Amino acid sequence: MLICFLLAIASALECRNLRKNQFICELPPIDLETQEYAGCPREEQLRLRCAPLKGINCTEDGGQEKQFNGTVFSESIQVFAPCRWTNRKYYATAVVLSIFLGVFGIDRFYLGYPVIGLIKLSTCGMAGIGAFIDFILILLHFLGPSDGSALIVPWHGFRPNYISASSNETYFESFDILFDNIL
Ligand SMILES: *[C@@H]1O[C@H](CO)[C@@H](O)[C@H](O)[C@H]1NC(C)=O
Ligand SMILES: *[C@@H]1O[C@H](CO)[C@@H](O)[C@H](O)[C@H]1NC(C)=O
Ligand SMILES: *[C@@H]1O[C@H](CO)[C@@H](O)[C@H](O)[C@H]1NC(C)=O
Repeated sequence: MLICFLLAIASALECRNLRKNQFICELPPIDLETQEYAGCPREEQLRLRCAPLKGINCTEDGGQEKQFNGTVFSESIQVFAPCRWTNRKYYATAVVLSIFLGVFGIDRFYLGYPVIGLIKLSTCGMAGIGAFIDFILILLHFLGPSDGSALIVPWHGFRPNYISASSNETYFESFDILFDNIL
């Protein structure tokens, strides 16, 4: 009787409730053009594909129980990795435009601020002072595209997404390994 009861509980394990050490998530592929995770959406959270460990049986959200062998992904596990969304704007381009054409506001047009661009254009970069301030802001990564995307910085190789105080802890080990290798 007790055994039947325990079996019933065990078979009711839902894949979405698996604990962190019961599945392994795949690292997302890296886009070589941007050196960021490929397919990062505007929300900057990338859903990972996760495979329950070999021998785990659990129920998918649809309802059917599956036996996993360690290589098959579960549909129901929800793990997200922070990522950086880019929208085809390059840091190097922004800096060069800012140096040479900043007094005409071209850097502001490139980054998607046409009104400020027009003001700079008609005031000679606010007598050069506004152009200089913009150049410093762009150089120090304080000024980016108006759509909230990140400027592409592709020449150092992959740019890791450092785990911030606000993000959830390190639930996937492969990320730790990755960080150990980089830092
Ligand atoms: C998982 O399910 C298979 C058959 O579907 C069964 O043979 C196996 O014993 C189950 N494993 C566990 C740990 O419940
Ligand atoms: C796990 O199962 C899938 C499909 O059922 C199969 O293609 C794959 O080869 C299996 N992997 C192992 C390690 O048995
Ligand atoms: C961390 O994850 C838990 C459960 O997945 C969630 O309830 C919580 O809001 C998350 N915390 C942050 C800071 O994202």
